[in-house]
Amino acid sequence: MASPFKADILKGKVALVTGGGSGIGLEISTQFGRHGAAVAIMGRRRQVLDVAVAALRSEGIRAIGLEGDVRKQEDAARVLEETTKHFGKLDILVNGAAGNFLVSPEDLSPNGFRTVIDIDSVGTFTMCHEALKCLKKGGRGEGPSTGGLILNISATLHYTAGWYQIHVSAAKAAVDSITRSLALEWGTDYDIRVNGIAPGPIGDTPGMRKLAPGELQSKSRDYRPLYKLGERWDIAMAALYLASDAGKYINGTTMVVDGGLWLSHPRH
Ligand code: HXC
Repeated sequence: MASPFKADILKGKVALVTGGGSGIGLEISTQFGRHGAAVAIMGRRRQVLDVAVAALRSEGIRAIGLEGDVRKQEDAARVLEETTKHFGKLDILVNGAAGNFLVSPEDLSPNGFRTVIDIDSVGTFTMCHEALKCLKKGGRGEGPSTGGLILNISATLHYTAGWYQIHVSAAKAAVDSITRSLALEWGTDYDIRVNGIAPGPIGDTPGMRKLAPGELQSKSRDYRPLYKLGERWDIAMAALYLASDAGKYINGTTMVVDGGLWLSHPRH
């Protein structure tokens, strides 16, 4: 679907998107690029990054792929350094990298729990922490939205409770808390806005393939106010809005983009 936004709303901006090689992260990278931003994508798999970067560049988007694991502070530091070295600055950090699998609490080892917390929560904090010095300098361009921006991709699971997702629910609750704390402190001190997006079930993503096989997807249609899965596009449009000057007064919020699903039914 065509974007309703003007093609230059992120002109001159530089974004780093973790988990940017596939799914929601790749769509955000693509839409940011189509609206004027240069994009660095970070992920663990070289081959996935190469395919994604080729697709971005084929549209004329300035893009690079940087291998790294958000669980490793040295990877985070290196990726930030390479991004700013390549593009000269950083304006926007999108924390899209996430780990997930379905498992009952009984069968989940503490290490399995820790692994998802490490990727989603600690990984988000690590990237924010390492990006701060770049965001302090970056994001100070023209226009009313002069500070940097962090966007944390969250979920709605933890607003209620869900089956087989105790680790992800805990991890995303922490992510939302990180969003609010940094919004307060870095908004005040450095004019950096920190917001989140909580997607509902989004079709054609690694998460959906893993978490909701075909049967579950069709059953859950009955509970859905808008009776359809969201698209990666829906999340990218929310990200564009928050990243553009239109979002200049939005700080510390996590925007739910789920067609109202979490209101109507706790989980499938
Ligand atoms: C039970 C599992 C498991 C599984 C891993 N573990 N997979 N336990 N069921 N399916 C346990 C392991 O037994 C181990 O604990 C610990 O987790 C670490 O496992 P590793 O395989 O060593 O970890 P690693 O290779 O680092 O992989 C971690 C990973 C990650 C979390 C599995 O690779 C991953 O999820 N990748 C997929 C990314 C993805 O799907 N992204 C989209 C996310 S969607 P022990 O005790 O044995 O040592 C999303 C949406 C959220 O986030 C909202 C949904 C509505």
